Amino acid sequence: MKAERLDKILSGTGRFSRAEARTLIRAGLVTADGAVERDPGAKLSRGAAVTVRGEPLDTAEFVYYMLNKPAGTVSGAAPEGAYPPVTDLLPEHLRRRGLSCVGRLDADATGLLLLTDDGDYAHRVTSPRSELPKTYRIRVDGPLTETDVRALAEGVTLRSGTEYRPAELSVDPEDDTLALVTVTEGKFHEVKNLMASRDRRVLSLERVSPRSGREPCAGGGAAADRGGSSSGIYIKLLKYYYDFCAILALKATKLRKSLHFFGQFLLKNHKK
Ligand code: URA
Repeated sequence: MKAERLDKILSGTGRFSRAEARTLIRAGLVTADGAVERDPGAKLSRGAAVTVRGEPLDTAEFVYYMLNKPAGTVSGAAPEGAYPPVTDLLPEHLRRRGLSCVGRLDADATGLLLLTDDGDYAHRVTSPRSELPKTYRIRVDGPLTETDVRALAEGVTLRSGTEYRPAELSVDPEDDTLALVTVTEGKFHEVKNLMASRDRRVLSLERVSPRSGREPCAGGGAAADRGGSSSGIYIKLLKYYYDFCAILALKATKLRKSLHFFGQFLLKNHKK
């Protein structure tokens, strides 16, 4: 692992400026691998155990957070009209790290968003080549039928000429205005446009994939820390899932689809 200056490692966490980091180190308030380190230029690996004023510091180069996006926020970096960026909900030290959303959700949409400062990773999982399945729980303004299920499974072409890859629609057996939709592209307003092509308007849209949305997780706008907690462990698993899907999508699309349908089966049963 590449060695880095201690002051840079401290400031890279977003909790301290470089000047604050130097002051803390020179004051003897920082330990590295169990010993006080007073040299801001001391070279350490990212895996080193660092404490500041006795508190352990997460020195990971990249962080991955899962956030339950509330309606009325945007996934881009800048406000859109009255809607603030969802990253405004993060604690100050994470805002300073400059985390970005992996993929996007409309301002009125809710649900799972990944946030990271690992640009390569974000690019890899959002690339259309990754064909990463994304599942949304939607409510629409009228009943959905088998004809709608078949139309989406065949792929939709809008009058404008925009083409959408086949999508999976799974209608709730007890309420035909509720459904899970799984898409693999991530085009702008994809789910709303697919529903509009079936003369249905989306009233609510929540991204649940690959979670069912029922497990305990970071609630309304709070970020879940990836270290230690059960939701932290989940986030690591989630990242592996994303990596796994992306690799399989490139190398064995059919196998990934079978796995995905198996995932959907688990999801539906979990819902019951
Ligand atoms: N499809 C949409 O229409 N909106 C979203 O936010 C995500 C997918």
